[in-house]
Amino acid sequence: DQIMKGGYEHYMQKEIHEQPEAITQSMRGRVKQQKSAEGNPYLQQRIKLGGLVETRGNPYLQQRIKLGGLVETRDTIRRSRRIMFVACGTSYHAALAARQTVEEMVEVPVVLELASDLLDRCCPIFRDDTCVFVSQSGETADTLRALEYAKARGALCVGITNTVGSAISRATHCGIHQNAGYEIGVASTKAYTSQIICITMMALALAEDSISKRERRDAIIDELGALPDKMRSFMQVQDVAMKELAAQLKDSNSLLFFARGNNYATALEAALKCKEVALIHSEGILAGEMKHGPLALVDEHLPIVVVATRDSMYNKMESVIQQLLARSARLIILCTAGDATMQEYAKRSDCQLIEVPGTVEPLQPILNIVPLQLLAYHMTVLRGHNVDQPRNLAKSVTVT
Ligand code: G6P
Repeated sequence: DQIMKGGYEHYMQKEIHEQPEAITQSMRGRVKQQKSAEGNPYLQQRIKLGGLVETRGNPYLQQRIKLGGLVETRDTIRRSRRIMFVACGTSYHAALAARQTVEEMVEVPVVLELASDLLDRCCPIFRDDTCVFVSQSGETADTLRALEYAKARGALCVGITNTVGSAISRATHCGIHQNAGYEIGVASTKAYTSQIICITMMALALAEDSISKRERRDAIIDELGALPDKMRSFMQVQDVAMKELAAQLKDSNSLLFFARGNNYATALEAALKCKEVALIHSEGILAGEMKHGPLALVDEHLPIVVVATRDSMYNKMESVIQQLLARSARLIILCTAGDATMQEYAKRSDCQLIEVPGTVEPLQPILNIVPLQLLAYHMTVLRGHNVDQPRNLAKSVTVT
């Protein structure tokens, strides 16, 4: 057991720290970093027509994402009437974190379904739907049942799992293996960030032929390459900082996480970690809904983590911070490293900052969740609870 934990005290701790490596493995052989086709023997450019450079659709210049498991079905997915992600727990949050990227890249309506709810509602599914089943274990009973249900209705079924040979990977028509390595801690950590990577790669691969999206796609792909090092660069510092913050928050009765945009998933996932392992009541709140109820909870005691990294939601989140501070809220702001505006708020209002490196918007949730996983981990240890096997929970829920 100690050898398996590789020097860490708990699997969850090990798996949080393994994330730079796990996401690297998920991308290995699938993301091509060099953009230019120079040196490519197949590309002996003997005719140069400047006016056609952008439009001739050279496959060597475009194919930067290779997902072997989707080669056969790519066109069918792109032509589907909608893409439906189906999952439970953390895997559902991963789909939520990446939904916007799929919508932006593929321009097909994207819906998300919790597997149990899809079944409860007998949700309509059609032959021209693509259903993507996201499951770390590949064995979750509800997700598997939903897969059988969708298959019987003729939908194209895609699997994203971390377990080769699992029931879901066998029953789907095609899919992507996460390759994140075994995850043992009941609370999912590295599988989550790796799932976001896989869904993002899928979105990029499906948009590969789109010239209008090329620039954006290249920007995301470039950042995918930089991501593991960015994550590594702040892991140790954050580990120490989150241990200190955990000591301050460990006796709270409740903890809220406010965010919007694709970081809504960050808020939900952080709250889930607090519930699952630290056994603290916690909620992730879509900041756009703040005035429709949650604001009534705000006082000077309840700790609130606000996710306000520099992205398209930044201005709206700054306004959320101002409104919360006007009600004397006890804030912890998760922001982009070196953000002077946020540092000013922290100084003036005595709130704490969690600083994370910046990246492109679709990938920001992958960095943002890391300190919050560490926070939940340290609170659990300080509260004396079982980290790797929280009470009443199982790693894989194989009964409905
Ligand atoms: C359980 C685990 C969670 C996981 C969920 C879905 O509740 O404790 O960590 O997110 O199942 O599992 P799956 O294997 O389908 O991703």
